[in-house]
Amino acid sequence: GVENIVLVSRRGLAAPGVLGLVAELEGLGAVVRVVGCDVGDRDQVVGLLEGIADLRVVVHAAGVLDDGVLESLSAGRVGEVWRVKVGGALH
Ligand SMILES: NC(=O)c1ccc[n+]([C@@H]2O[C@H](COP(=O)([O-])OP(=O)(O)OC[C@H]3O[C@@H](n4cnc5c(N)ncnc54)[C@H](OP(=O)(O)O)[C@@H]3O)[C@@H](O)[C@H]2O)c1
Repeated sequence: GVENIVLVSRRGLAAPGVLGLVAELEGLGAVVRVVGCDVGDRDQVVGLLEGIADLRVVVHAAGVLDDGVLESLSAGRVGEVWRVKVGGALH
């Protein structure tokens, strides 16, 4: 029942399988747009949101993994994972 969908990832239209996904969603009646955006970058999210007239719902599933045992998790490793998950949610 969703009529308008914006699919967001850093690769955007270059993401493998995205055209098939767009075709599937359009077949269900949605108008679909694909946008390349790093949701961990506030300025890019500002640009993304400026291009969406009537935002109703955000499904935030962006994430990168950097798994390891606790003692190997440096601030830099945790920071990049949080930049996308927590930073993306905040933005
Ligand atoms: N699969 C599981 O079993 C599982 C279990 C628990 C939790 N999760 C969580 O659920 C979420 C989705 O999982 P998944 O398995 O579908 O992961 P996935 O296949 O790796 O997909 C992650 C998506 O996030 C995008 N992404 C990564 N960094 C981004 C950024 N900075 N800005 C915008 N988009 C970004 C990626 O596209 P680009 O690389 O093109 O940006 C990709 O489309 C993740 O947060 C994951 O940690 C997954």
